[in-house]
Amino acid sequence: MRILIVGAEGTIGRAVTATLSGRHEVIKAGRKSGDVHVDIGDRRSIDALYAKIGKVDAVVSAAGHVHFGPLLDMTHDQFMSGLTNKLMGQVDLVLAGIQHVNDNGSFTLTSGILDRDPIRAGANAATVNAALAGFALSAAIELPRGLRINVVSPALIDESAEKLGAWFPGHETVPAARAAKGYVKSVEGGLTGKVIAIG
Ligand SMILES: NC(=O)c1ccc[n+]([C@@H]2O[C@H](COP(=O)([O-])OP(=O)(O)OC[C@H]3O[C@@H](n4cnc5c(N)ncnc54)[C@H](OP(=O)(O)O)[C@@H]3O)[C@@H](O)[C@H]2O)c1
Repeated sequence: MRILIVGAEGTIGRAVTATLSGRHEVIKAGRKSGDVHVDIGDRRSIDALYAKIGKVDAVVSAAGHVHFGPLLDMTHDQFMSGLTNKLMGQVDLVLAGIQHVNDNGSFTLTSGILDRDPIRAGANAATVNAALAGFALSAAIELPRGLRINVVSPALIDESAEKLGAWFPGHETVPAARAAKGYVKSVEGGLTGKVIAIG
């Protein structure tokens, strides 16, 4: 398969790329990193990316920013930043990508654990994660030509624990390589409309 991986040089993306690139042709994308560049917060940038790379069999997204901060201090703009970037950025990868994905291809998006195991300061992340699950559930029944869509929802990644662990008291972590298996399941398996929880 020919697979676009957005966020391929990130903590999760590197593990996904390492796993999939042995068996498939992988196109790595990021704002500054990777083979091709895209900003998922900018729909025109996404359209330009698809026009540049041509048809693919799978689109994987392991990118997206949310705002972490106490609910009582959260501003409208802070909350919107997560909706605009991690939610709409990934939704736009699908909306813009449908015509660029070959028959029986797939989209795999990334959410995270916080809509099923919340932490303080995580309301924006939890909202975005739950919205991505709803989007995939519903989009799956409308996608044409055998296209599939799933969301991988990893727990805190081992490799991120030093940086983020203080926000996640008592949470189990999972290695990025284990999270990567969820992406393999989505891309190579038959699931659609599902949240693939890892950890
Ligand atoms: N790490 C965890 O513990 C964890 C757990 C659960 C869920 N998640 C979710 O998984 C996703 C990836 O997390 P991560 O920890 O792997 O992130 P990361 O290490 O910061 O990597 C993010 C990757 O995405 C690219 N990127 C960032 N913003 C982008 C944009 N606007 N457009 C295109 N590419 C962009 C970055 O490359 P450039 O800098 O070149 O753009 C980088 O390759 C996030 O949505 C995060 O919420 C993470």
